[in-house]
Amino acid sequence: MQDQKFNIGVIGSGNIGGTLGKHFAKAGYPVMFSSRHPEQLTALAEEAGHGARVGTIEAAAGFGEVILLSIPFGKTPDLKQQVGTLEGKVLIDTNNYYPQRDGDLPGNEMAKKNLLESEWTASHFPSASVAKAFNTIYYVTLGGRAFDHENPMAIPFGASDEKAKEITNTLIHDIGFAPVHVGDLGGTRSMQPGQKLYTKELAPGEMQKLL
Ligand SMILES: NC(=O)c1ccc[n+]([C@@H]2O[C@H](COP(=O)([O-])OP(=O)(O)OC[C@H]3O[C@@H](n4cnc5c(N)ncnc54)[C@H](OP(=O)(O)O)[C@@H]3O)[C@@H](O)[C@H]2O)c1
Repeated sequence: MQDQKFNIGVIGSGNIGGTLGKHFAKAGYPVMFSSRHPEQLTALAEEAGHGARVGTIEAAAGFGEVILLSIPFGKTPDLKQQVGTLEGKVLIDTNNYYPQRDGDLPGNEMAKKNLLESEWTASHFPSASVAKAFNTIYYVTLGGRAFDHENPMAIPFGASDEKAKEITNTLIHDIGFAPVHVGDLGGTRSMQPGQKLYTKELAPGEMQKLL
């Protein structure tokens, strides 16, 4: 799969999903943007170019071999009802938990089951390969610092298995950032809001030192 330009379904095409979808399209990946209002995404797809298209959330989930998830964190259970288990797909989770936006329910569940944010998301899609990435970077920085292959900024990521690790590593690299693997999803605490990698704009060597 690594040498192919696999299809990417973007679920949630706002600040992060919109920016990343444009980058992936520029890097040569077939992209489908989606949200609950796909009719509002035509201009984004035109801006992305490179054949980027627009669809419903279900269509993007079907289209993508890789699914980029970029919606309000607390909406994941609703999404699962819509798209099912995403069996066999790679799910890249960019979401962060903000209780004032997402409510107390996810926080209570995570505390009860002793789950990190990435593990809570992954628990809804047990037959997908799940990675956590792009959640530590401000979307404006994500837009401005991409494709700097000479001096790439570090993007940390964790992955549930080898497939998710390899594909996420490739995607981060292909859009001109330096992937820094933090381990499996259990290693992603350092990437959560307020933790040591959150919003850090570092060179890869500096990030490795912090880890
Ligand atoms: N902003 C940042 O710099 C940043 C950085 C790192 C991580 N994050 C995290 O990334 C995620 C997305 O943030 P964002 O800033 O990109 O948000 P955003 O600009 O508000 O975009 C959210 C997208 O999700 C869609 N959406 C909302 N509710 C949905 C639902 N129930 N089902 C499916 N799609 C839904 C929205 O479109 P419709 O309303 O049309 O459906 C929109 O396309 C959040 O979890 C955020 O915490 C943000």
